[in-house]
Amino acid sequence: MSIAMKFILLVLAIITSLYPRLRLVVSATAADDADVVADNNSSFVVAGYLPDYRGYINVNSTAIHLTDLMLFSLTPESILRRYSDVNTLLTNQGGGCCLTSEHFDLTRKARSYKKEHQPRKNIRILVTIGGGGRSNGFKELVTGGAKVQRQFIKALVDLCRDEVLDGIDFDFEGIQSLEEWKAYLAFLSVASTYLHRENLFITVALHPGQLLPTEVCQRVDRVHVMTYDMMPSPQPKNSDNKPNNHHASIHSAQAALENFIRNGCHPSKLVMGIPAYARHEENMGLVRAYSEVVDDMLRDYDDISADIKTTIQSIRSWDGYLFDSPDDVREKVNYATQMGLGGIFIWELGQDKQLAGIAEGGILLEEAAAAVANSLIISDDVPGDEL
Ligand SMILES: *[C@@H]1O[C@H](CO)[C@@H](O)[C@H](O)[C@H]1NC(C)=O
Ligand SMILES: *[C@@H]1O[C@H](CO)[C@@H](O)[C@H](O)[C@H]1NC(C)=O
Ligand SMILES: *[C@@H]1O[C@H](CO)[C@@H](O)[C@H](O)[C@H]1NC(C)=O
Repeated sequence: MSIAMKFILLVLAIITSLYPRLRLVVSATAADDADVVADNNSSFVVAGYLPDYRGYINVNSTAIHLTDLMLFSLTPESILRRYSDVNTLLTNQGGGCCLTSEHFDLTRKARSYKKEHQPRKNIRILVTIGGGGRSNGFKELVTGGAKVQRQFIKALVDLCRDEVLDGIDFDFEGIQSLEEWKAYLAFLSVASTYLHRENLFITVALHPGQLLPTEVCQRVDRVHVMTYDMMPSPQPKNSDNKPNNHHASIHSAQAALENFIRNGCHPSKLVMGIPAYARHEENMGLVRAYSEVVDDMLRDYDDISADIKTTIQSIRSWDGYLFDSPDDVREKVNYATQMGLGGIFIWELGQDKQLAGIAEGGILLEEAAAAVANSLIISDDVPGDEL
């Protein structure tokens, strides 16, 4: 590994620890005219992560376009503290955070809102355990004995019952050794058995390269592949022949997903991560939310308000920042449906740009949901339904 690459990895590791990773799993349900095909019977997931610090966004409007709302997050310690009278099960008692009853309440309201507006559709609500800077408790948990794991899983079931959740998303960040990774895999298998017995979903968020063995992939319901923060791919270059430094180019994302498939995961288990944030082309440590970038565009072009959507449709770079345009999101969704993937998710809903009257749920989310509906309609028209 070159020194430059090591440096980039180090920078990314630091960023990751500073920015808890929120993933929104948006299950795909799209425009109302697509209700017939894209109802909750359609299995293509459009998921969106909602971090605890984004409670101010319009969650109701996102729910219209989502199949899965991913609440981010709680630490393993906080679960044990909440439900276990033996709260000394983990020696690591720090970092109990971050969701509160207000967050759960907010998402239940969004579920009601969806029911009122789309009575034939459903939204699943899952809660993420862990995330960047929130995973310290995992190590002891997965390498600990059966007793602590049983208590923990039981506490998760109680949490889902109390907060009316549909399942659990695991996100153990900062795995340090092969031993920890193997213990995590074993833990996921055990947790799958118990959560499925209670009719709860289990998903796992993984980085490109954290390839799952076939058996574990089969046991979990979905694998959320975080196809962003990736090393720039050397190919292809931009039109001006500069290397494409986008941290989530579709080429890198495809390569990452195809690795998972080659390693034995069925495509239908894989959910493709789409970032709603930009990184600077020369300094990947500089990050901006898509909403901030769009706000800048709106300031610079105050005459485009009539048709903002069309104007920004293909813009994927602004002021040195590289990101997915709505067109790029559509291309990713089309790839995901053609490959027979399980779905896509957006990280994260609060970074997307919600625009009253234009894209109340968020520009990128709505683009993704519309692309899903569109591809489902097309596939419905094809005799034999090859997709
Ligand atoms: C709903 O899903 C089931 C199971 O996958 C399938 O058999 C059925 O045809 C689907 N119905 C519609 C209306 O798509
Ligand atoms: C979201 O929708 C629910 C159900 O209609 C409603 O009770 C709640 O007030 C809405 N939230 C906001 C912020 O509008
Ligand atoms: C969708 O989900 C809701 C809530 O679970 C259920 O009432 C409805 O029957 C489902 N619709 C279909 C078409 O499966």
